[in-house]
Amino acid sequence: MSRKNQTLGEFIIENQSSFKYTSGELSRLINSIRLAAKVVNHEVNKAGLVDIIGTAGDTNIQGEDQQKLDVYANDKFIQTMTKRNIVCGIASEEEDDFISINSQDENHQNKYVVLIDPLDGSSNIDVNVSVGTIFSIYRRVTPVGTPVTIDDFLQKGNQQVAAGYIVYGTSTMLVYTTGDGVNGFTLNPAIGSFYLSHPDMQFPENGKIYSVNEGNYTHFPQGIKNYIKYCQMEEGDRPYTSRYIGSLVSDFHRNMIKGGIYLYPKSSVNSEGKLRLLYECNPMAFLAEQANGKASDGFTRILDIEPTELHQRVPFICGSKNMVDKAEEFMRNA
Ligand code: AHG
Ligand code: MN
Ligand code: MN
Repeated sequence: MSRKNQTLGEFIIENQSSFKYTSGELSRLINSIRLAAKVVNHEVNKAGLVDIIGTAGDTNIQGEDQQKLDVYANDKFIQTMTKRNIVCGIASEEEDDFISINSQDENHQNKYVVLIDPLDGSSNIDVNVSVGTIFSIYRRVTPVGTPVTIDDFLQKGNQQVAAGYIVYGTSTMLVYTTGDGVNGFTLNPAIGSFYLSHPDMQFPENGKIYSVNEGNYTHFPQGIKNYIKYCQMEEGDRPYTSRYIGSLVSDFHRNMIKGGIYLYPKSSVNSEGKLRLLYECNPMAFLAEQANGKASDGFTRILDIEPTELHQRVPFICGSKNMVDKAEEFMRNA
């Protein structure tokens, strides 16, 4: 039984037995993400001090090279999961290829792979606007005891065992699912612990917010153009309000709490859209469905798309169920 104010550590232990594979390995993995999140959070909070402590490429007074925050976050998450020896492979938006983790002492006994967008919304770093981290976890499909292969990473989103995000906002929150609803934990920075603040998060079935980069309007498919006009039309509970932060994590988080839809369609400039299926769309789609929302590429359920490459991009429409249904209707009828 989850209760408010429970720490994330307590929650993980208490809910371990409700997870169908109860080896504790997944719990340890989520624990290590929790740890890396705190380290990255600390660094994100210092981003505004860049003029004082040096920018990427500089050397700081301790003689350490300053890194860009997205590189830093990438290194921290990979290091934490590698050193603690709890995954057999990692794929990251920041890496060209997946990383196989060969643990010497346990002979590849680990069962999980992680896919990660270490710093989402990176264009917002320099302007003090919320950014995030997105993660997605699968059981490997190749035999335990052998190095991982690309097949372990190119699994459909409906095979995910857990997914979540961290939003580094006015508060820092970790929100995740293991397929049994979505729970949100807020970091108390004074104590350094995450507390359950948002149990059983749910998208309202209807919403009044649409989030899309309208600067790309002229390049959008006709169905999306028509849907945007529908959002702006004065009728019933419309016009909707437009809100676009430019960090998927933050836009998603707001829409889940208030009710809304996020759209990153394909366009005549980005023929497949911009967002990455494996690092961004699948984890967010899993969270959306677990929170009574919906995620689609305009025609197909995101979680049913067969991945063909690690850095594949797809159009992404995600949010309150009735709103996504409506957008799909416009796509079909265009
Ligand atoms: P990332 O910083 O990981 O590259 O992701 C940025 C993504 C997403 O977070 C955001 O919603 C979208 O790109 C914004 O793109 P535009 O600037 O093209 O609107
Ligand atoms: Mn991203
Ligand atoms: Mn990123």
